[in-house]
Amino acid sequence: MKLKDKVAIVTGSTSGMGRATAVLFAREGAKVVVTGRNQERAKEVVSQIKDEGFEAIYVLADMSKLEDLKALVDKTLEVYGTVDILFNNAGMLSMTPILQLEMEEWSRVIKVNVTSALYLTQLVAPIMKEKGKGVIINTTSIAGFSARYGLAAYITSKHALSGLTKSMARELGPEIRANAIAPGAIHTAMVDSVGGIEAVKWLIEGSPLKRVGQSEDIASMALFLAADDSSFITGQVIRVDGGVDA
Ligand SMILES: NC(=O)c1ccc[n+]([C@@H]2O[C@H](COP(=O)([O-])OP(=O)(O)OC[C@H]3O[C@@H](n4cnc5c(N)ncnc54)[C@H](OP(=O)(O)O)[C@@H]3O)[C@@H](O)[C@H]2O)c1
Repeated sequence: MKLKDKVAIVTGSTSGMGRATAVLFAREGAKVVVTGRNQERAKEVVSQIKDEGFEAIYVLADMSKLEDLKALVDKTLEVYGTVDILFNNAGMLSMTPILQLEMEEWSRVIKVNVTSALYLTQLVAPIMKEKGKGVIINTTSIAGFSARYGLAAYITSKHALSGLTKSMARELGPEIRANAIAPGAIHTAMVDSVGGIEAVKWLIEGSPLKRVGQSEDIASMALFLAADDSSFITGQVIRVDGGVDA
């Protein structure tokens, strides 16, 4: 088991790649804190983990609310006593062109996709530093490398999260390693919300591997980055995208 007795907070773990990662981390021995806003799905993920004989709790939190983030970490400490791994994976899409983009939408995307990762890190990094070891993983995107029409807030948030990842690695080492995963098209609810595989067909057809990614493709990279297998890797934004050019 690669994460035996580690305590891992996985944000956005009520669905998609966060859910797959929460399940995989638990199978590898971690005590997992599942979080999101949807109670029904949070319960379902915890039940799946417990039914397999592993350990997890859920704590509901809206990533745009600092008080929820503080309560998430407080509950983790109350139940498990520490935090070893923070996976900042929750994210929201925004598909509004710049000239129509209202400040409210802009702020919400930045809060959910970037500020939550910063604030959760501020809460857990002192604990990790004190222990002499910790891992932070952020989910950026291939949208963190280049722009595409109509996605300005999302694109900006993912570029920002890449910069934040590098800053985390620079400032929080040597005790803490910080890396990001940049997924390509992964078949989750987020892709389904914009038209499913059909909507990302152009990406898949132009890629060497000719398939859409699955949540498990991201979970296995998250496990690699969380475990000692990657002990000499920090400050990296690692693409898991089937080799797309975008
Ligand atoms: N799918 C792709 O092709 C793709 C590509 C590149 C990057 N990404 C990134 O991958 C990450 C995971 O997305 P996914 O594809 O797995 O999508 P997903 O299945 O829709 O999952 C999104 C997760 O984020 C949580 N979330 C969203 N807004 C939240 C909020 N305000 N507060 C708390 N939790 C919130 C959702 O939980 P609740 O609904 O319970 O709140 C859910 O668990 C995101 O950061 C996304 O930007 C996705």
